[in-house]
Amino acid sequence: MNCSRVKCPVWLSDLMHEAGGTVPFSQFMDWALNETQYGSYSSGKLRIGKTGDFVTSPSLGPEFCELLSIQISEWIIEIESNCNKHSTISIIDIGPGEGDLTYYLIAALEASFPHLLSNIEFVLVEINDGMRMRQKKKLMPFNNVKIRWSNFGELSTNPVTGIMIAHEILDALPVDRIVWLNNKLYLQCVKLINHLDANYLELINSKLTGKVNNFLNLAKKQLGIQIPPKNPRNGWSSELHTHLNDWFKLASSCLLNGPLLIIDYAMEARRYYQTSRFEGTLISYRNQKASNNILADPGLSDITSHLCLETLNLIAENNNFKFIGERRQGLSLLSLGLSEKLNSIQSSASDNLELALSRRENLLRLVDPICLGEFRWIMYDKPSKKATSNNSLPLFLLDPLD
Ligand SMILES: C[S@@+](CC[C@H](N)C(=O)[O-])C[C@H]1O[C@@H](n2cnc3c(N)ncnc32)[C@H](O)[C@@H]1O
Repeated sequence: MNCSRVKCPVWLSDLMHEAGGTVPFSQFMDWALNETQYGSYSSGKLRIGKTGDFVTSPSLGPEFCELLSIQISEWIIEIESNCNKHSTISIIDIGPGEGDLTYYLIAALEASFPHLLSNIEFVLVEINDGMRMRQKKKLMPFNNVKIRWSNFGELSTNPVTGIMIAHEILDALPVDRIVWLNNKLYLQCVKLINHLDANYLELINSKLTGKVNNFLNLAKKQLGIQIPPKNPRNGWSSELHTHLNDWFKLASSCLLNGPLLIIDYAMEARRYYQTSRFEGTLISYRNQKASNNILADPGLSDITSHLCLETLNLIAENNNFKFIGERRQGLSLLSLGLSEKLNSIQSSASDNLELALSRRENLLRLVDPICLGEFRWIMYDKPSKKATSNNSLPLFLLDPLD
């Protein structure tokens, strides 16, 4: 992470002034992404897709959701078998970005599983108006399908049964930063500096807060994770997912029962909090370029961090989500029929070579081990009280060679 001083836009200087001039990094990240008028997502300035600031799996084209729909259809049938025939099943897309995941999922279900759609509603949970407007426009063609927008507050007063999907949303939740200096752990904060009548942002170190101490204790006592690891170099820094518990608490209050599928960059604690990972995992994206200068361009770029698998599981379980399993995206998609799809594209290539090549490239990008293929598919479940116990693994967790 590049810690050099950067210019601060006027809107952020005003907020920083009001907050006393120094805020924890997590507050800076929240403003940079979600401040109602100027945040990168809320203003709608950030674009997802091949011609935007960064790509996500569904934004590449229909292929990702065509495969995902096979897993979703299995879950729908399972939920249907445990509830009244005419009950509505909700598919909840949390943090829908451009709306691509819901868009292509509806298209895939319409094409391959139309009989399942009659009892389904799609619920998009989006906190930022700029994104919500674009999602509404994108999903306009599906006027025959039940689609609504909601938020966790509203959903928790009327919880639903269904399938929750959190695709590349938890990596955008604000994180706290910690840094090891002169044998002591500090909280990294962002400070507003005025120099020659211009405003700048700079990282400074401050005392750990109660929330951060609680997180560190939880990781150590319940999981045996030592943060920082033994013998860190001076300046070792990383991030803590101190806001995840609030998120899971709300998610849990919205879902009566059904699976939660998280798809995101994630890694094991031993890799996350190791001595050689000197600067954590934070990265920012703008115009398809990654940068480690996280303070630069607030309100114009994306900021994301990896998840830590063990702390994620602990927090999920503390909020009544049962961990079912996790797998890399490459293997998950193979289990859902990726190679059969590649074969069928190959055999139809003579009809439309250009389309076949682009579909083939999209599929390969989804499983590329140095890119989207490294994503983890992580499944939790909130079991229904009525459900007959089903110990069989979901399709994406089965061995693709079986
Ligand atoms: C990286 S994008 C997600 C991309 C999208 N899921 C996809 O697959 O293309 C993050 C999205 O989450 C939204 N968001 C951020 N924080 C959120 C929160 N706490 N609840 C719901 N949506 C949130 C952002 O506005 C944005 O639409």
